[in-house]
Amino acid sequence: MNLPHEAGAPDQYGVVGHPVKHSWSPFIHGMFAKATAQNLVYRMFDILPDDFRRESLRLLTGGIRGLNVTLPHKQAAAELVNELTPRAARAQAVNTIAFFEDSTLLGDNTDGVGLTADLERNLGLELGNKRILILGAGGAARGVVGPLLERELRSLTVANRTPYKARKIAEEFSDLGEVLGCTFAELEGPAFDLIVNATSASLQGVMPELPAGLCNEQTVCYDMAYGRGDTPFTLWARARNARTVSKGWGMLVEQAAESFLLWRGIRPSTQPVLEALARND
Ligand code: ATR
Repeated sequence: MNLPHEAGAPDQYGVVGHPVKHSWSPFIHGMFAKATAQNLVYRMFDILPDDFRRESLRLLTGGIRGLNVTLPHKQAAAELVNELTPRAARAQAVNTIAFFEDSTLLGDNTDGVGLTADLERNLGLELGNKRILILGAGGAARGVVGPLLERELRSLTVANRTPYKARKIAEEFSDLGEVLGCTFAELEGPAFDLIVNATSASLQGVMPELPAGLCNEQTVCYDMAYGRGDTPFTLWARARNARTVSKGWGMLVEQAAESFLLWRGIRPSTQPVLEALARND
């Protein structure tokens, strides 16, 4: 476990992704560090997919004690580490790497607990008996399927532009519960209770084309993407009068708190950070 220092050089952490300049993780971890009196710095590293392995290892062997991993590297990160927590092994996707003093390079996935904490605790949503749709089947989607299946859902559907990836997720998680994997065009009503956008399409300013009837006034819509103002997905949801429309700020903060816990042995309070980000939205 990394222990807090009273003085001396700050411990180094960071986030790797491509692109990464939109990341609010340095702000969030900066607030956490201040609130818990931890002596650390947290930086952003933009790394191209082809360079991910080499550059991440260079950072970690160069003194970085932990990394958050964001798109498109989450699945590559699961290949990089030499140990996976059970939830990361299940997801085959890693959003948090911890480099311990005994040289263990541990990969964890805190996305799923981040999403469920935000949905249940912050947004007051009861997940039991719900029909849930996840759009996307990349690293972000992989992280949340397991924790969602721990709830007694009515059904879970994963739809993706590239169908085999959605079908692969359905197959890999089938021992935890029934997951339907399909293309966007194969989706059918009635309207879902919860739709989670786990594609990176919002970053490109686009919304996948979906059949009619998937979203109505009862549907809770959640975009894992975050940023100022509406995204193509939140606009899509608002146009269908969705019951609530949220972006991924809460998930971001909750998953970050779990990463911080792994790295520093202390879970910071998320409320002050959620309030600060809400003022920014
Ligand atoms: P992440 O870690 O955010 O999941 P990723 O592993 O690169 O990043 O996955 C990106 C996801 O967004 C994938 O499901 C991808 O679909 P494909 O598997 O077909 O590539 C989805 N995605 C990206 N751009 C998209 C777009 N313009 N329309 C629909 N889906 C898109």
